[in-house]
Amino acid sequence: MKLVTIIGARPQFVKASVISKALRDAGHTEILVNTGQHYDDNMARIFFEEMGIPKPDYDLGVGSGTHASQTASTLVGIEKILFIEKPDFIIVFGDTNATVAGALAAAKCHIKIVHIEAGLRSYNRKMPEEINRVVTDVLSDLLFVPTQVAVDNLNREGITSGIYIVGDVMVDALITYTKIAEKKSHVLKELSLEKEKFLLMTIHRPSNADSDERLLSILKEVSRIDLPVIFPVHPRSRTRVEKLISQTDGNIRIIDPVGYLDMMMLEKYASIIITDSGGVQKEAYLHKTPCLTVRGETEWVETVRDGWNYIVGDQLEQISILSNNFPKPKEWHPHYGDGTSSARIVEILEGTQV
Ligand code: UD1
Ligand code: UDP
Repeated sequence: MKLVTIIGARPQFVKASVISKALRDAGHTEILVNTGQHYDDNMARIFFEEMGIPKPDYDLGVGSGTHASQTASTLVGIEKILFIEKPDFIIVFGDTNATVAGALAAAKCHIKIVHIEAGLRSYNRKMPEEINRVVTDVLSDLLFVPTQVAVDNLNREGITSGIYIVGDVMVDALITYTKIAEKKSHVLKELSLEKEKFLLMTIHRPSNADSDERLLSILKEVSRIDLPVIFPVHPRSRTRVEKLISQTDGNIRIIDPVGYLDMMMLEKYASIIITDSGGVQKEAYLHKTPCLTVRGETEWVETVRDGWNYIVGDQLEQISILSNNFPKPKEWHPHYGDGTSSARIVEILEGTQV
């Protein structure tokens, strides 16, 4: 098989790390396209190095911009590559602007679209990712979904064929690289952290990160927590966080974004994770670390149902209340698979008529 794989943002580097390996180990020809949506060393290069992601065949270098300009440049760049490479399939991951641009370019070139992490819904159309997911899913030929909930979401929108429940490729990545991180990462020592005696926080969604008022309210609530809080700051909100942090007490430690190995150790050994990231919520569940989600809803509903993830919404006071006393649940299920998703995806693709 010949496939074009589209990556561009941090969560897609994580997903591609296991899919590219599985495809190449099985002898298939993968053309890797990096759109360049994320470009800082610690948002991009570190993932290629630590996770052994192959060097991209094409770098589009689209960089930052408004949704329309970023998506449009990506669309034009991908279309050119599809004309040259004429692959059997295009693979797109998740819900970023690279995802929707890849799907749209391929649909009009009549190339079969493979959406990995399909079927997720927040039912909040104010999130750019929700628009990207809905459009990508409607265009996709093969929809690899993690759970039955995702199948039900698709069915409700009239999408009923080409759907395969294969678990989540992020489980494959987490299992593989947590083992490596235990040996190679020194982040806890470097930050002088004791296991279970710190919290981890990531905030980057526009609804939290793009308003002084909202971000300051979150930081103030977090600063009421007794333990140190490690906050690897996404470049989107770096300037704003630096400006606002002086108005809070001193327990929040701002650091640069970290690589995946350090992130695994911080997530695994944090007592609680405070986040608005989709991937980090899921990883918190997989590491059995309680999570407080600073959003009004989540796509990862199983984590909430089992009691490991609490949706904070606008009740920000719950951050300090629950951080100091989170009732650790007994229920935990392998909702997202057992780490064999990438192998299953490759097997299904091999059995698919082009
Ligand atoms: C994007 C995805 C989001 C995902 C997130 C993962 C979309 C619509 N959003 O959001 O779904 O959760 O990535 O991290 O695709 N910037 C830098 N350096 C970088 C990257 C970004 O400085 O390497 C800054 C720029 O000022 C840029 C801003 O961050 O304008 C936002 O970046 P962008 O990629 O547009 O959106 P994210 O918030 O990262
Ligand atoms: N991540 C990382 N370092 C960081 C923050 C996040 O390695 O400083 C990883 C995280 O473990 C997860 C992925 O990046 O695998 C999630 O990306 P992000 O939160 O940026 O996006 P989302 O999942 O919300 O789309």
